[in-house]
Amino acid sequence: MDFQSHIRVIPDFPQPGVSFKDITPLLKDGRAYRAAIDSLVSLARPLAPEIVVGPEARGFVIGAPVAYAMGLGFVPVRKAGKLPAETVSVAYDLEYGSDRLDIHKDALRPGQRVLVADDLLATGGTIRSTIRLVEQLGAAVVGCVFLIELTELEGRAKLAGYNVLSLVQY
Ligand code: PRP
Repeated sequence: MDFQSHIRVIPDFPQPGVSFKDITPLLKDGRAYRAAIDSLVSLARPLAPEIVVGPEARGFVIGAPVAYAMGLGFVPVRKAGKLPAETVSVAYDLEYGSDRLDIHKDALRPGQRVLVADDLLATGGTIRSTIRLVEQLGAAVVGCVFLIELTELEGRAKLAGYNVLSLVQY
């Protein structure tokens, strides 16, 4: 499947100089969406994860179906103040702006094998912070899967030492 043909590139969004990779054309195409999730599952299976963690919001659209297809649970990492129970938090930077990410304190078990999933690896800030949250809970990141990797931004370098897998590279 040519996933790239289902990804729309929008120049100068949300600000000048940023080339936005819009996955909504892929998501609305049932065959392409399913093929993308199946491909990510194939990448993830050898890592033998026990649970999937994905950051809000596009990480849900990728991580939750990956978890479902693998018969695993899904844990949301959310932007500041959205989770109702006790949380741990980390401040994070992203391609444009900064914020705080939260995870429920009881979401993961110590030693649990975690797959991190998101739509896009850009600077790596979001996933570095997501990994910090997972590790604060004592769980172990066995790998990170992405639909898209923006290689120029060198997010992979920020994730050195972790297994980083992506379907489409720009
Ligand atoms: C986007 C994207 C990734 C992150 C990648 O999310 O979905 O999570 O940025 O950038 P990074 O590697 O530089 O951190 P965004 O924060 O825009 O939120 P959204 O999913 O709610 O749109």
